[in-house]
Amino acid sequence: MSFINENFLELQDSYLFSTIAKKVAKYTKENPDKKIIKLGIGDVTKPIVPACLEAMHKAVEEMGTAEEFKGYGPEQGYEFLRKAIVENDYKPRGIEIEQDEIFVSDGAKCDCGNIVDIFAQNNKVAITDPVYPVYLDTNIMSGRSITYLPVTEENNFIPELPKEKVDMIYLCFPNNPTGTVLKKQNLKKWVDYAKENQSIILYDAAYEAFITEEDIPHSIYEIEGARDVAIEFKSYSKTAGFTGVRCAYVVVPKSLKGYTKIKEEVSLNKLWNRRTCTKFNGVSYIVQKAAEATYSEEGKRQIKENIKSYLENARIIKQGLEEAQFTVYGGVNSPYIWLKVPEGMTSWEFFDKLLEEVNIVGTPGSGFGLHGEGYFRLTAFGTKENSMEAIERIKRFSNKLK
Ligand code: MLT
Repeated sequence: MSFINENFLELQDSYLFSTIAKKVAKYTKENPDKKIIKLGIGDVTKPIVPACLEAMHKAVEEMGTAEEFKGYGPEQGYEFLRKAIVENDYKPRGIEIEQDEIFVSDGAKCDCGNIVDIFAQNNKVAITDPVYPVYLDTNIMSGRSITYLPVTEENNFIPELPKEKVDMIYLCFPNNPTGTVLKKQNLKKWVDYAKENQSIILYDAAYEAFITEEDIPHSIYEIEGARDVAIEFKSYSKTAGFTGVRCAYVVVPKSLKGYTKIKEEVSLNKLWNRRTCTKFNGVSYIVQKAAEATYSEEGKRQIKENIKSYLENARIIKQGLEEAQFTVYGGVNSPYIWLKVPEGMTSWEFFDKLLEEVNIVGTPGSGFGLHGEGYFRLTAFGTKENSMEAIERIKRFSNKLK
């Protein structure tokens, strides 16, 4: 008899975005002639940028020759990419990160989920609410106790420090799903808290490239002392068109310490390296060559263009919703727009109505947690044409509600 991990029974039946996909598939089957605009899951619509595509083609050719063929690569990522990350993502911001503190991976979703392996089950975990479901679900799977930190309009989307001591803290800024940001002084409070309590911050910076305003940290390591308390997750998905390519990285500074039961210090970098070597054989050479090309002059320019046009979609959606009298957050330093649903409706009711009446798919706020109830998320990752069309449809819909 094989016994199961009963923590899985504590999870909701289906992962949020799978539930939505199923609902949309059912509606599409029953209404095949409807033109649905999908602004739900944050999947990009712009293809892989040309600089990366070219690098991939070249790498494919190399792999077809006996001289250039590569088999298993380093589990942590090729040196050429780790070096490019240090030189481009960290050095220009005055942040000292060494190559062996970087681990290249197949996606920030996997990293955020896998990182729990190196932490004890009895750690207390703080998670903002609403939240990207991966942090919550993976900690439920491993049976940890969770403290929820509300982020709502009442606290201006700035999470308050927990009243009790927590050991692991998930922060994602620019935030998914609310699209809001933390200023340096606010993030510093978290770094100070973590230092005081010997906690670890798991900082998801997957959306940092969308920051447009000053005084908003692009990396947690811009905050003094963060090297001693924070792991950072970064992704190529939303910038270079990599959602289907799969490449990301995690930074685990060598100064980061965890503790054994008898309070002996252990290097988290060492543990993560050990875990990576055992469970992962590295990202493919072809994909890492593509990721390296994001740092070429051409690559940088092309990615900037992508981000500019997604942010333009965000502006169109935000402005259109405001014209239709919705209360709207996010969309300025983020590809996500977080709106309040009309009075008297739940997030899922609003989801159903939008789908059925104007054929638009978004994400119900309550799917991201209890404090997401009453809100709804739209993404700016669609095409400009669809973003504009969606706003016209929502305006028509909201006029009917009046
Ligand atoms: C989202 O829609 O929240 C993201 O696309 C999910 C992800 O990156 O896994």
